[in-house]
Amino acid sequence: MDASDMGADLEKVLISAEEIAGRLAELAAQVDEDYAGRELLLVGVLKGASLVMSDFVRALHTPAQMDWMAVSSYGSGTKSSGVVRIVKDLDTDLTGRDVLIVEDIIDSGLTLSWLVANLSSRGAASVSILTLLRKPEAAKVHVDVRYTGFEIPNEFVVGYGLDFAERYRGLPFVGTLAPHVYSS
Ligand code: IMP
Ligand code: MG
Repeated sequence: MDASDMGADLEKVLISAEEIAGRLAELAAQVDEDYAGRELLLVGVLKGASLVMSDFVRALHTPAQMDWMAVSSYGSGTKSSGVVRIVKDLDTDLTGRDVLIVEDIIDSGLTLSWLVANLSSRGAASVSILTLLRKPEAAKVHVDVRYTGFEIPNEFVVGYGLDFAERYRGLPFVGTLAPHVYSS
């Protein structure tokens, strides 16, 4: 899938595929340095983090296993409430593990702060966060994000795993939608 498949639905490309690849390589090098001599458990949050995970793990040299969680946030409308339900749990025992949560985007930060507390309570040796994107709203809740790809403005974005009504996840870049798509 690329921009030509979106017709007039694409407003603009915010972060290109090349910029994403370059930044993930930098983050992987940083993670390799920070976790030298250790082994990582990468925890991807479905479905949005699937593309970040698949490219990040290929850029990484540190031995790493992958596991996945699906969570759903209770709340009214589109705002996340911070009350989270586990839809699909991990298969892995976290006791003594160095966990790196891999996320697509942090908006309010409520989902992630819940997730960090939940995974820490299972006996992990460490729990850190890597996110491709971060919106300014995230500053409101204290989430200690160790690795951030890009700070973006408070706009709704799609692509590279991120959807609007389950569409556009397959785009190789991150872009904004033309207003007619979500206002109709
Ligand atoms: P929060 O940090 O608890 O508000 O939840 C963040 C989640 O909301 C992300 O994992 C995404 O699934 C979704 N989300 C937030 N902002 C966007 C966006 O701009 N595009 C698509 N999904 C988004
Ligand atoms: Mg997500």
